[in-house]
Amino acid sequence: GFAEVESSRSGVYFKTDMLGVMKANLYSPLATRILIQVAQAEIHSQDDIQQSSLATAWEHYFGPEHTLRVDTSAIRSPMQSLHFCNLKTKDGIVDRIRDKEGERPSIDTVRPDAKVHLFLYRDQATLYLDTSGESLFKRGWRLDKGSAPLRENLAAGMLALAGWEPGQTLLDPFCGSGTILIEAAWWAQNVPPGLHRPFQFMRLRNYQKQRWHDLRDEAFANIKPTLDTPLFGSDISPAAIEAARANMERANIGASSINLEVKNVLDIEAPSNSGIIITNPPYGERLDSGQDDIWQPLSGRLKKEFDGWRVNIITSDLELPKKLRLKAQRRVPLYNGNLETRMFVFDMVRESFRDQ
Ligand SMILES: C[S@@+](CC[C@H](N)C(=O)[O-])C[C@H]1O[C@@H](n2cnc3c(N)ncnc32)[C@H](O)[C@@H]1O
Repeated sequence: GFAEVESSRSGVYFKTDMLGVMKANLYSPLATRILIQVAQAEIHSQDDIQQSSLATAWEHYFGPEHTLRVDTSAIRSPMQSLHFCNLKTKDGIVDRIRDKEGERPSIDTVRPDAKVHLFLYRDQATLYLDTSGESLFKRGWRLDKGSAPLRENLAAGMLALAGWEPGQTLLDPFCGSGTILIEAAWWAQNVPPGLHRPFQFMRLRNYQKQRWHDLRDEAFANIKPTLDTPLFGSDISPAAIEAARANMERANIGASSINLEVKNVLDIEAPSNSGIIITNPPYGERLDSGQDDIWQPLSGRLKKEFDGWRVNIITSDLELPKKLRLKAQRRVPLYNGNLETRMFVFDMVRESFRDQ
């Protein structure tokens, strides 16, 4: 429900107020961080950067009682030294606060109260204030990492792209530490992804503590205690299933909400007549399983046992459809961190099988 929403390669822009900032941090399953754009200027020298920083009303967000950190990144910028640009931004901020309030904030690179980001693109400088802090894919429940966990916001993105809706049977037969299933369970139970973690906005001047507490209370009141339809996960590794159970527990998901078992993917059975598989199998770059020959037998298993199901597989192995000898209905490019991957979508409808 935000106004003026615009998407770009690097993110999504929208207009809102501080309540909207809090809501975006609390409710977005997909965002990595929510930044406030505080200034934008055309720049031709490092002094222009300092001027832009000096002209920004930082005192609205923080003051001498706060600590500060500035980071700079650039794409196709003519500026020679990013380090110098960083210093100029910081000088502008501390001069501004000292002029307004008599004292300057100090720098803390480890645990700053205010995190400012300067982004340079060609001759344009944009200043952002971070309201999230730790990346939003860190939901607060993960301890057992498993061997190659998916980022939580990517798992949520797969659920959305796959068109999964709560109530539809979901199976992840390479479930690892359970990321996809835990994201699905939170979605089905209306648990906002940010409910169990702190945010950077809580350390700023304009933090509206009461409004935040009201927001959280409202979110808690909307949580469903149980899932209407259980979810299903399996993995060949007992340690992975153990990790998934521990993660579920920390995520406050009831033991009966996700059916977990240790099982080779070649032995899986469909838990209902129709449903959806969303999964992230091992692949060389992330995991050395030595099991490249599972694809043909897996394909046979899917054709035999999963007629009427839709199968969504995320992998960096672009040859996967060929190895499975299945025609992909869709192939969606996605990034798992820096790793380029595809989500391949296969409809398991008997008459449509054909060799690739
Ligand atoms: C990339 S990881 C999945 C990570 C998971 N999405 C997560 O977020 O933790 C792949 C998983 O496949 C499992 N695996 C490898 N071979 C398998 C097989 N033959 N049957 C079932 N699981 C298998 C591994 O134990 C590993 O947990």
